[in-house]
Amino acid sequence: MKDVWPFPAIAKWEKSCGKHPTQKPLSILNRIILATTKENDWILDPFTGSSTTGIAAKLNNRKFLGIDLDEKFLEISEKRKKEIDNPDTFNLHKNKIKLI
Ligand SMILES: C[S@@+](CC[C@H](N)C(=O)[O-])C[C@H]1O[C@@H](n2cnc3c(N)ncnc32)[C@H](O)[C@@H]1O
Repeated sequence: MKDVWPFPAIAKWEKSCGKHPTQKPLSILNRIILATTKENDWILDPFTGSSTTGIAAKLNNRKFLGIDLDEKFLEISEKRKKEIDNPDTFNLHKNKIKLI
């Protein structure tokens, strides 16, 4: 693995639950989680924003705790979590990040 990771910019489907000004692409958090954790591990993101880390954690069967001081970002996080609680969306997201 190189020290510069080329990834496409964040896609429109990743913002389906609202906009966070510095939301990260799901594919990047997916790679970080796969490289640094095992299944069922706990992951803490104390600056969670729209919880991209949490979405990548759930897609990879990790447990997640997110903290943010801004309630409106936690609302986006909650919507994103509900979105992938739907098995169809879960599989759709999983397949999209697999292709990157
Ligand atoms: C770079 S953003 C995180 C973006 C996130 N990775 C995503 O993909 O949406 C950092 C977040 O930290 C939050 N934040 C800043 N200072 C904080 C603090 N002292 N305690 C908790 N959250 C804080 C901000 O509200 C912001 O949403």
